[in-house]
Amino acid sequence: MEPLIGRTILRFDAVESTNDTAKELLGTQADEGTVIVADRQVAGRGRYGRAWFSPPGGLYCSIVLKPDEKQVQLLTLISGMPVVKALRHWSVLATLKWPNDVVFQNRKLGGILCEGVYRHDTFWVVAGIGVNTNTPLDRLPEEVRRTASSVRAETGVELSNEEFLEYMLREYDKVYKASKTGARNVLAREYMALCSTIRQRVEVATLAEKVRGTAVDVTPLGALVVVDERGNRVEIPDGTVHYV
Ligand code: BTN
Repeated sequence: MEPLIGRTILRFDAVESTNDTAKELLGTQADEGTVIVADRQVAGRGRYGRAWFSPPGGLYCSIVLKPDEKQVQLLTLISGMPVVKALRHWSVLATLKWPNDVVFQNRKLGGILCEGVYRHDTFWVVAGIGVNTNTPLDRLPEEVRRTASSVRAETGVELSNEEFLEYMLREYDKVYKASKTGARNVLAREYMALCSTIRQRVEVATLAEKVRGTAVDVTPLGALVVVDERGNRVEIPDGTVHYV
């Protein structure tokens, strides 16, 4: 079957944010599966409005998606899987910190920002992926360096962003198609196998509250299940995990 993801790749030297470029182009110059890639971003964004520092050396891309209703919730979750699979292909044993921080030896190497947009009655999702492949750490602010790193700094391996992107998009194509066909339980299990949050003691900050307990499961829709200190099972659809 022809790949859907990456059938068109639009390349830029510098953009504000590949997610914004994708949103500008979708429906006209960018159809489902189109990927926007930039060598650097001047206003890269992370989850919850945080900045994503994007100097040359890292990989910054956004994938234009037209998911059906049932796929939407899972998308954020599964978008980290291809990154981990690609890193493992190059022998970097990364894992996912729920929902989709890409981590290696407790350092964040990558992240995902999925954003939904309505255009002429069609719901689109832009899945933005940032990976610190060869990012020079001295170009990242001090506070970011405390928790984040790059593949090159951690392993000495210099990845080709081009080859990495190609491999990652092939993997993305597989998980995206699987999420369309309804094998969502299987996908959630596959996600769990890559996720290092399960069985950890956690404090999860959501917009409404903080939940402390043990992470025990991920539902087929991507929520993290935490057994809190009173023994209640709490399903958390979105939040930031801290290990405690
Ligand atoms: C996070 O962990 O907070 C998510 C980071 C997502 C960064 C990527 S880089 C490509 C795309 N464009 C953006 O502005 N953000 C995403």
